[in-house]
Amino acid sequence: MYQFKMSTQIKGFDTFAEFAQAESLRESDLILTNEFIYEPFIKPVGVPCRTLFQEKYGSGEPNDQMIDAIRASVPDGIERIIAVGGGTVIDIAKVLALGGNWKAEDLFTGRVVPEKTRRLTVLPTTCGTGSEVTNVTICELKSLQTKKGLALDAMYADEAVLIPELVRTLPYRFFATSSIDAMIHAVESFLSPKAIPLSSTFSEKAIEMIVSGYRYVAANGADRWTDQAAQFLTASNFAGIAFGYAGCAAVHALSYPLGGKYHIPHGEANQLMFAAVMKRYREKKPAGRLNELEALLGRVLDTAPGNALDALYALMEQILPRRPLSSYGISAEAFPQFADSVIEGQQRLLKNNYTELSREDMIGIYCMCNE
Ligand SMILES: NC(=O)c1ccc[n+]([C@@H]2O[C@H](COP(=O)([O-])OP(=O)(O)OC[C@H]3O[C@@H](n4cnc5c(N)ncnc54)[C@H](O)[C@@H]3O)[C@@H](O)[C@H]2O)c1
Ligand SMILES: [Fe+2]
Repeated sequence: MYQFKMSTQIKGFDTFAEFAQAESLRESDLILTNEFIYEPFIKPVGVPCRTLFQEKYGSGEPNDQMIDAIRASVPDGIERIIAVGGGTVIDIAKVLALGGNWKAEDLFTGRVVPEKTRRLTVLPTTCGTGSEVTNVTICELKSLQTKKGLALDAMYADEAVLIPELVRTLPYRFFATSSIDAMIHAVESFLSPKAIPLSSTFSEKAIEMIVSGYRYVAANGADRWTDQAAQFLTASNFAGIAFGYAGCAAVHALSYPLGGKYHIPHGEANQLMFAAVMKRYREKKPAGRLNELEALLGRVLDTAPGNALDALYALMEQILPRRPLSSYGISAEAFPQFADSVIEGQQRLLKNNYTELSREDMIGIYCMCNE
């Protein structure tokens, strides 16, 4: 039995101004964004909403202290949260839509299960997380030194609004990290045992669009990625729909200690793990759904299925070169601890693996990422 439900309405506009006009924004709306997005896109439109800038509460991706401080700053009378930003802003906004009196650590460790008390509208400004259509939010827990994802239906956005102009100001480096994240969402959801033809259709289309965009960037130069901004934004949304149903798996699970303790951006940490996890999968279970992925990649990369994964790794390296883990100050002595924390804290993701990975497999994968 399966049930595929889209809880979020998806809308598209060419500009923020068109969105603001169509939505008649009001004082009971709170925009969570960054100042460098507010200044060029939101301020000139003159909206009556209240605004918070995420970066005033700390740098980098969300952590529990940042979330607690932002929650404490939400003014009274707010009925809707409007997130205009990347995965960092969106994931925080999802928590702001929940009611009650609690600390972020209680939420992410499952000690409280709050209800949604505010509407949530999400305008993504990166092309990676797909968070605008998932019920997932991800947070670094300072006390645990890792990241934890939480899935709660109360965190689905009511509306996801895709506006390509918001993405075009993204610096190349964050285009690269976020779009690689989307590619990995598409691949992990395609390989997930929970995948169904409907979710796979979104995974496949996302893979096809991102590969074609990457080939364009590889042929025309890094600064030309913006020509494809609308395509990457749509692909990221499709990948979000796919993994929102079928889930992500080991690549994400193994990357969390890198993000939590070493603050490597999410997409970059995933890129570090990706090829090594796929190689281990192939060694352990060469026949299966992986062959369907190889056939699909062979088609979109114009190569034989047997070469397709290597061709994909090479293309992704052109977009975002991979470095050994040691170059981030990570010592090989930490790998067994990483594996233990993944086994303890990331079962939500590990259950979607293409094939089971043992503790030794995981340590071996981290070692491979150090070469
Ligand atoms: N909830 C989910 O389903 C889900 C899925 C994947 C990732 N995530 C989470 O999302 C976060 C990563 O999100 P991300 O990759 O979108 O990066 P991000 O939101 O951290 O943004 C990366 C950088 O780009 C800047 N930026 C964003 N949009 C910009 C724009 N239009 N112009 C200029 N600068 C801009 C940000 O301020 C930041 O400095 C991580 O915390 C990750 O764990 C969540
Ligand atoms: Fe991700």
